[in-house]
Amino acid sequence: EKEGYDYFMLKEIHEQNIAIKNTLIEKDNIKEIISDLDNINRICFVACGTSYHASLTGKYLIESMAGIPTDVVLASEFRYSANALNENTLVIFITQSGETADTLKALKKANETSKTIAIVNVLGSSATREADYVIYTKAGPEKGVAATKTYISQLVCIYLFAAILAQNKELLDSLKKVPSFIEGVLENESKIIEIAKKYKDARDFFFIGRGLSYPTALEGALKLKEITYIHAEGYAAGELKHGPLALIDNEIPVVVIAPPGDSYDKTMSNLEEVKARGAEIIAIGPCNDEFIKYEVADSFCIDDEISEILAPIVYIIPLQLLSYYISIERGLDPDKPKNLAKCVTVE
Ligand code: F6R
Repeated sequence: EKEGYDYFMLKEIHEQNIAIKNTLIEKDNIKEIISDLDNINRICFVACGTSYHASLTGKYLIESMAGIPTDVVLASEFRYSANALNENTLVIFITQSGETADTLKALKKANETSKTIAIVNVLGSSATREADYVIYTKAGPEKGVAATKTYISQLVCIYLFAAILAQNKELLDSLKKVPSFIEGVLENESKIIEIAKKYKDARDFFFIGRGLSYPTALEGALKLKEITYIHAEGYAAGELKHGPLALIDNEIPVVVIAPPGDSYDKTMSNLEEVKARGAEIIAIGPCNDEFIKYEVADSFCIDDEISEILAPIVYIIPLQLLSYYISIERGLDPDKPKNLAKCVTVE
């Protein structure tokens, strides 16, 4: 079943180009759903864990491209917030399994007032029966406990949704090119293996990014915690100086996510800030002269045609691989992290 791979997680990371090609088929369904909705003046995403990180990306995209105010709420916190939902609110639930108890509970509550959409990977799961509309991520079954290809597919669903909502044809077209960029990253896997060997004994890690790369930083840190048991924090790059900079020293590697675009220069000045405190930097940025000239301990570059807007779908891949290979270097089983289950059916 693992088709020659040592673990499901590695197989699933490598399937991400195919997963996305399948997700893109959902375009027509998403178009139909959007044409059926009217008078929506607010959107609220609800999810847990990795699906919550995909939701955060959705907020950036929808607000910046379609101008609709969008919130993101953790499913386990949904019941404690007033939320102010009404018939003009669209509530989008993102759940790979479609069985997460917190998410299902929130979905039932949202159904009382608002139109609901579930973005789900598992066919026929509970969330698909509860929601008014269903969008399938079509990533295929995911066996590794850590979500990888389903995350990428959730992102692609959100990109499709935002691009159709905003009638952004250029973004819709550019999505078709993403699978080949993913293949490009996977071809450079050996570089990540080298980095993993070097940092496998670190006690703490930081991941920083700005704007659309902030959820990528959160997701990179979550993957590392889950399967390597190394403490990791994901931070908005600009927040570091408001507290956590006090922790930075030469024992803490900092992963800097720096795709080309509006936030690039500011992220690079945050890189200089942590470098000045002695941190070892692992920088993920564009393959261009400007990036390559930075003198950091380690770097991984990605085709600079992938700009900030598409970066979340591609820049997460080296971070998934980094977690995977650190887990292997530490002698762990990345498919079965301790204390975790693929599907969380308790609140
Ligand atoms: C992390 C991970 C979890 C899930 C979370 C929500 O790798 O897999 O954080 O993302 O438990 O699960 P779903 O999406 O099934 O609702």
